[in-house]
Amino acid sequence: MERAIGPVGIIGGTGAFGRGLAVRLARAGLEVRLGSRDTQRAQTVAEELRSAVGAGARILGGTNRDATAAELVVVALPLAAIDLLSPLADALVGTVVVCVVNPTRFDDAGPYNAAVEEGSAAHAVAHRVPGARVVAAFHSLAAAELQRLDRPMDDDVLVVGDDPGAVAAVVDLADRIEGCRGVAAGPLRLAVGLEAITPVLVAVGRQQRRHVGLRLSRL
Ligand SMILES: NC(=O)c1ccc[n+]([C@@H]2O[C@H](COP(=O)([O-])OP(=O)(O)OC[C@H]3O[C@@H](n4cnc5c(N)ncnc54)[C@H](OP(=O)(O)O)[C@@H]3O)[C@@H](O)[C@H]2O)c1
Repeated sequence: MERAIGPVGIIGGTGAFGRGLAVRLARAGLEVRLGSRDTQRAQTVAEELRSAVGAGARILGGTNRDATAAELVVVALPLAAIDLLSPLADALVGTVVVCVVNPTRFDDAGPYNAAVEEGSAAHAVAHRVPGARVVAAFHSLAAAELQRLDRPMDDDVLVVGDDPGAVAAVVDLADRIEGCRGVAAGPLRLAVGLEAITPVLVAVGRQQRRHVGLRLSRL
């Protein structure tokens, strides 16, 4: 029997990625707590997403601090906004925190992976939430595809982190999304590699005019 997963909080949950992840997790029967700087916005988005998923969907909206009251907490903020995490650090000690942040930027030559002072976006997040069990994952899932509930995803979700229990929990979470397969990929120092794949996928997607995803062969 599948292990029950407690509520999943999403800090920055009102954005494209947070919305997409929320509907997929709610479709899988999980409770989702969307966080925002604006409670009213989060509640409005939550209501909209509950209607999209259908009867019984458990998606609640509140503050970003409300979203920390969860078994797993996803950071779905843009890199430029991660200082919002520092005042939440007390609430995240011991919690599995999942960084999905891509430092992707664009210039005339297309998308590229911007350098992050701490080494990766995941390390930058970890610096702001000391004591949290930081894992990085979900970088290559396109928000637009997550939001399309009329078809399953078709993606592997590579998960990295230094806490084996936290990595296993996030692999399990990824497996709950229809069409996704979670794959434990190694320590957090590999996060920079996962983050850097995203601009490559975006560049391919621009040429192919679709949201391309990632699958590993011969697993
Ligand atoms: N979009 C994708 O396809 C995709 C795929 C994989 C990973 N990601 C990663 O997921 C994260 C979220 O992506 P997204 O496209 O959902 O981003 P987004 O819509 O720009 O931002 C997400 C939420 O963060 C809050 N926010 C935005 N700018 C902020 C600021 N300057 N200061 C404080 N809060 C701010 C907003 O929530 P409130 O205004 O409600 O507070 C916003 O709804 C990014 O790190 C991205 O790299 C995205």
